[in-house]
Amino acid sequence: MAVYVLVLVALILCLLCLSTALLKWNEVRYRKKGLPPGTMGWPVFGETTEFLKQGPNFMKNQRARYGSFFKSHILGCPTIVSMDPDINRYVLMNEAKGLVPGYPQSMLDILGKCNIAAVHGSTHRYMRGALLSLVSSTMIRDQLLPKIDHFLRSHLSNWDSSTIDIQEKTKEMALLSSLKQIAGIESGPMSEEFMPEFFKLVLGTLSLPIDLPGTNYRRGLQARKNIISMLRKLIEERKASMETHDHRDMLSSLMRSDENRQKLTDEEIIDQIITILYSGYETVSTTSMMAVKYLHDHPKVLQQLREEHLEIRGRKRPEDPIEWDDFKSMSFTRAVIYETSRLATIVNGVLRKTTQDMELNGFVIPKGWRIYIYTREMNYNPYLYPDPLVFNPWRWLDKSQESINNNLMFGGGTRQCPGKELGVAEISTFLHYFVIRYRWEEVGGDKLMKFPRVEAPYGLHIRVQNLY
Ligand code: HEM
Repeated sequence: MAVYVLVLVALILCLLCLSTALLKWNEVRYRKKGLPPGTMGWPVFGETTEFLKQGPNFMKNQRARYGSFFKSHILGCPTIVSMDPDINRYVLMNEAKGLVPGYPQSMLDILGKCNIAAVHGSTHRYMRGALLSLVSSTMIRDQLLPKIDHFLRSHLSNWDSSTIDIQEKTKEMALLSSLKQIAGIESGPMSEEFMPEFFKLVLGTLSLPIDLPGTNYRRGLQARKNIISMLRKLIEERKASMETHDHRDMLSSLMRSDENRQKLTDEEIIDQIITILYSGYETVSTTSMMAVKYLHDHPKVLQQLREEHLEIRGRKRPEDPIEWDDFKSMSFTRAVIYETSRLATIVNGVLRKTTQDMELNGFVIPKGWRIYIYTREMNYNPYLYPDPLVFNPWRWLDKSQESINNNLMFGGGTRQCPGKELGVAEISTFLHYFVIRYRWEEVGGDKLMKFPRVEAPYGLHIRVQNLY
């Protein structure tokens, strides 16, 4: 017996020595001159487990030890984490100096090589230009808002006296509303076929790029293929009908050439559509779900929001759609959306990578390293947001708050979110019909995760009743 114990103790000691040696070796490997302070964790795995397990606390602890600019190794890459507002602004403004988007390989593979995050320089400018013209204020006013309104009126009907999973409903809403805006696709056979493929595509972008049967990555790649063939068919049908019909949607705008921009290829159009669907999906759905959650928990906010919407409805007939002027008058709604986005931290940060060795903040960052502009902590900075953990939409009624330099909820610099106003318009219209039609209560007990993504792993269930 004593021998077994001795062997066990010796084994444990050996393992401990080996682990310490491995950690030390990994630190020494990265102890190049000029790198910022920080730790690199284990070979290959780095500090990913600590990062995912401890969540925001990992970042806070590292910042307390090493400052707002430190090195780590997370999500498969040596990474510099920056929480310094000036450096963040510099990185976001200087893509041309070799600070390009640094999203994971699985995302790039599945979203396509013409996807906006995969292109740089002049190609990015031209793809972004094509996209901006689809989601401009004029387009929202004349074409998109009527479609959003039409869709949401029916999406939010018949919820009375039922228990629904608001997470599922807002996810469907974000996707189906985009399909309607892109090609006038109504809920029906095409969207039924599209939806499960799209959900697989999303999961694939968040997986490890291991192309083996049964992996989310493999399923995501297959879903991309299926989505491409559906979109190709749609483009062919559209080509045939464009002669005789004046379609007024994103697809026809993308297919038309005009004097200001060159014609996009079918491949570029498809990746552009996938970009629009993907970028507006989780952001819009999660913000909508969390707004419902916070409104439920804050009756005073709900009351003021409802008053804003009943006043708008009071000026209209029940069948009248929400129009641009109505949307522009929703100042408290806008404040609720911004406060939801801040407090829930829908986006933790944005990723860039270096295309060459470069000096940043007095350190030398090697080529191919990621830069994680981690914006989460800024959302809870008491100097920017007094009582930061309180849900207080009123703080956003001072409009200057939206444009303060530190606010990166929609990104910044040359890749600032082009769909910001569209996203706000969609969520505002959703809230309009939701709060004027229904009251609701949570069924209770649903788990809500805040990190690394905001999600309710088993759904967020609410019991809904007609207001009148
Ligand atoms: C509440 C809603 C939304 C939030 C919080 C949000 C947030 C963001 C953020 C943080 C970025 C910067 C990414 C980076 O710098 O790497 C971004 C970029 C982007 N967003 Fe949004 N977004 C929202 C809605 C939308 C919608 C509805 C669309 C649909 C058109 C959209 C399309 C895009 C695109 C295409 C980019 C990439 C721009 C580029 O690389 O030039 N977003 N968004």
